[in-house]
Amino acid sequence: MIKQAIIPLAGLGTRMLPLTSVMPKELLPINGKPNLEYILEEGLAAGIKEFIFIISKNKLSIKNYFFNEKTYRNVIKKKKNSRIIKEFKKIKKYQKMIKFVYQNKPKGTGDAVLKCEKYLKGKYFLMLLPDDLIVKKNCSKEMIKLHKKKNCSIIATKKVNKKDVSRWGILSIKNKKKNSFKITNVVEKPSLKEAPSNYAIIGRYILSKKIMKEIKKLNPGKGNEIHITDAIRNLINKNEVFYGNIFSGKYLDCGTLKGYINSGKIISKIK
Ligand code: G1P
Repeated sequence: MIKQAIIPLAGLGTRMLPLTSVMPKELLPINGKPNLEYILEEGLAAGIKEFIFIISKNKLSIKNYFFNEKTYRNVIKKKKNSRIIKEFKKIKKYQKMIKFVYQNKPKGTGDAVLKCEKYLKGKYFLMLLPDDLIVKKNCSKEMIKLHKKKNCSIIATKKVNKKDVSRWGILSIKNKKKNSFKITNVVEKPSLKEAPSNYAIIGRYILSKKIMKEIKKLNPGKGNEIHITDAIRNLINKNEVFYGNIFSGKYLDCGTLKGYINSGKIISKIK
């Protein structure tokens, strides 16, 4: 059973400047709610009991957002506003589920994963990248279902425009069934020429704890960062099974300014 999810939150958010100059991108509101709360809701509904937030000392406002008891208590004491009471209860629920680990240097997603090593209890864990919102259908739930069936690592994927492949990690695939396939290779942000397909890695992963050993052996890759993609490729080369799950929800790229603006518009029209 997958009960723990890790969420890398220590990135600098440079693609989202100027909005991120004083506020972490994960707290920027999308239709009235921080991006990060959508991610937590998805994890909760998929049966996650503990979230490990990988933050940095420059992003302590993420911790403050969830652990700001005093403000809520003071306001509620003065006026019994039912909306605020409801929000406070929600925050209290999250408080019990969130742990923090620190990645003070932005050395990449692989390095962020490694910071969680000693807190992970099960054989597999879920990783959610908050740049990627998936709405309408719960992607984590779908992935956990496929994981139970195949008993292997899973990556969320979606076909993207060929001309845009260099924005994502890209998969090589084998035996594509309707909604899933075995992954034979992964490449981090290839050029159009290098790309083995146009199936992109979207930010949901079910990973085996074996990945830690591979991360430790890595040298910095693209952009001088330790990429989880490179550790995944090395595990695949050692015959570890990875499946791509073509998810059925709607993908919203909140990691670029253009995508963020668009996401708010789309979410406001849902329901
Ligand atoms: C990361 C991963 C990349 C993946 C993407 C999904 O990139 O390295 O493989 O496709 O997330 O959003 P980043 O968005 O951190 O540049």
